Amino acid sequence: MSPREGLHLGTRAVHAGLPEAVDGEPFLPGPVFASAFHLSGPGTPEGYGRYAHPTMTRFEEAVGVLEGGAVLAFGSGMAATSALLLPLLAPGDVLVACGDAYPGVRRIATEFLEPRGVEVRLVPSDEAAIRSALPGSTFVWVETPSNPGLDLLDLEALAVDVHGAGARLAVDNTLATPYLQRPLEAGADFVVASGTKALTGHSDLIIGYVAAPGVEALAPVLDWRGLHGAIPGPFETWLAHRSLSTLGVRIDRQQANAEALRDLLAERSDVVGDVRWPGMGGVLCFTLGSEERAEAFLAACTLVADATSFGGVHSTAERRARWGTDDVAPGFVRFSCGVEDTADLVADVERALEA
Ligand SMILES: Cc1ncc(COP(=O)(O)O)c(C=O)c1O
Repeated sequence: MSPREGLHLGTRAVHAGLPEAVDGEPFLPGPVFASAFHLSGPGTPEGYGRYAHPTMTRFEEAVGVLEGGAVLAFGSGMAATSALLLPLLAPGDVLVACGDAYPGVRRIATEFLEPRGVEVRLVPSDEAAIRSALPGSTFVWVETPSNPGLDLLDLEALAVDVHGAGARLAVDNTLATPYLQRPLEAGADFVVASGTKALTGHSDLIIGYVAAPGVEALAPVLDWRGLHGAIPGPFETWLAHRSLSTLGVRIDRQQANAEALRDLLAERSDVVGDVRWPGMGGVLCFTLGSEERAEAFLAACTLVADATSFGGVHSTAERRARWGTDDVAPGFVRFSCGVEDTADLVADVERALEA
């Protein structure tokens, strides 16, 4: 059941990575629990589970269909991030990264790469700032929409400029997912994502991946994964693959909910400031006057869990400043819309604002 060309992403997500139909066999075979596989003759990755396992290979094929390239799965988004940045950047390289990239990415850059002789240039997440940092760079890391600021970058234009400077472009596609944004089509050299979030969407597993237009570019990443053993286990990988089939319906509903909440919040400028929604995905941000007001709002919501992370089927929100990792106001709230009925979610938020 390999998806045909020309199908919409929502349709592809339903069928991606499923085997050919065989009477009596399931659509998606169950997880294969094995560490060693029958292997005679020369060694191949298929012989030992740390290098490859059938459940992971299917999932990689599925995500590859969605991202439009070759994919390597990892045990988390951070494992994927490390496996791209650490083997690819060497002393003398220059990394340009958005200053509001996921905090773990910034820590890898400043605490591991910089001491090893990589020059790190952290810049604001806007095109002009990135462009002015490009001369002499070898690698560029962006996240769009950025998080939690939710700024958008024009990836096609950026890819041209990054390549013009002789550098490679990596895009964190966690928030948008390939359902809404395909950076490889826009010219990016790599995609990295946490599949923990909207890609799988049920807040019940941790997984990540790196994608590139072809397998050759992934050779050092594959080598790193085999050495570090940062693979996802069969059960998480199977759950993740199963979750892909609802990607389109989940994101459509999350997006509709975000748009409805944006409209509600924009009308409440008496209590809500700086409402941001990038026009895609289910995450929006806004500011309530103070830490106390934001905490009171979160406590008053009955359908919205006070939790970090985003992209799940259950609505969640958090006062982002509680982590101390982002440059945001004390009352800044990052709100991730779930798939609840839009009217119920809007009514819940409206009630909580009154409270
Ligand atoms: C944008 C982004 N990238 C990467 C990560 C890291 O992913 P994981 O938690 O799956 O390691 C996160 C986690 O919150 C994230 O939000």
